[in-house]
Amino acid sequence: MRRRIVAGNWKMNGSKDLVQQLVGDIREHVADLDEAVKSTLDVVIIPPALYVDSVIGCCGDALATGVQNVSQWQSGAYTGEISSGMALDLGCQYVLVGHSERRQLFAESDEVIARKVTRVLESGLTAILCVGETLEEREAGQAESIVASQVRQGLSTVSSDQWSRVVVAYEPVWAIGTGKTATAEDAQAMHAEIRGVLEQMNAPSRNISVLYGGSVKADNAAALFAEPDIDGGLIGGASLKADEFVSICRSFPVGA
Ligand code: 13P
Repeated sequence: MRRRIVAGNWKMNGSKDLVQQLVGDIREHVADLDEAVKSTLDVVIIPPALYVDSVIGCCGDALATGVQNVSQWQSGAYTGEISSGMALDLGCQYVLVGHSERRQLFAESDEVIARKVTRVLESGLTAILCVGETLEEREAGQAESIVASQVRQGLSTVSSDQWSRVVVAYEPVWAIGTGKTATAEDAQAMHAEIRGVLEQMNAPSRNISVLYGGSVKADNAAALFAEPDIDGGLIGGASLKADEFVSICRSFPVGA
């Protein structure tokens, strides 16, 4: 049975004060969730790396933590970079790799992204590989082929014993921060496609969580999470508001 995951990607937002308030509030609300929900759900906070230590200090055991990016190298003279070993050392469980903002603003190629996935998995952490098409690519009818290629290349080095630490997040670029969400049907279709690609790669596709991201809010999460191949969400803006984020965590179908 694959895990349900709701992960909050804070991007370059936050402060020491926000960590105390927001994480404290989220932790309290998550503690109140139904035991049946808690046992199948990982709630993950992914702050800027500088705040990971304080987030972990506020999280207790109730929440997991991740970083938004790591270096493609293990260690050494790479000024400004952080390694997946360091994320592990601090107590993180998850690393985002290949977010569209990294692909677009920092020119990360699929090759670099595959190296980062390798580093994350060899350090023992879980990689959340982000994939997604631009509006132009969707309008040109290329959405499926672009996403399939990002999945194949990004996960090209995963070995059979590492698949249990792979998560895929489908985030159509045109839906990120725009208020435009993919319809639940369109998102489900792409998630099924992604699972098909994983199957072709001989991955245990039924056990791999595939998350949706892009303007997920409390009022659209339930429709998305009701779809059979959508296992949770990667949340940007709404992860900075405790009520909204926790409502999203409560949006899974009951008893499913
Ligand atoms: P928004 O939820 O703000 O659209 O961001 C999505 C995202 O990029 C999460 O990684």
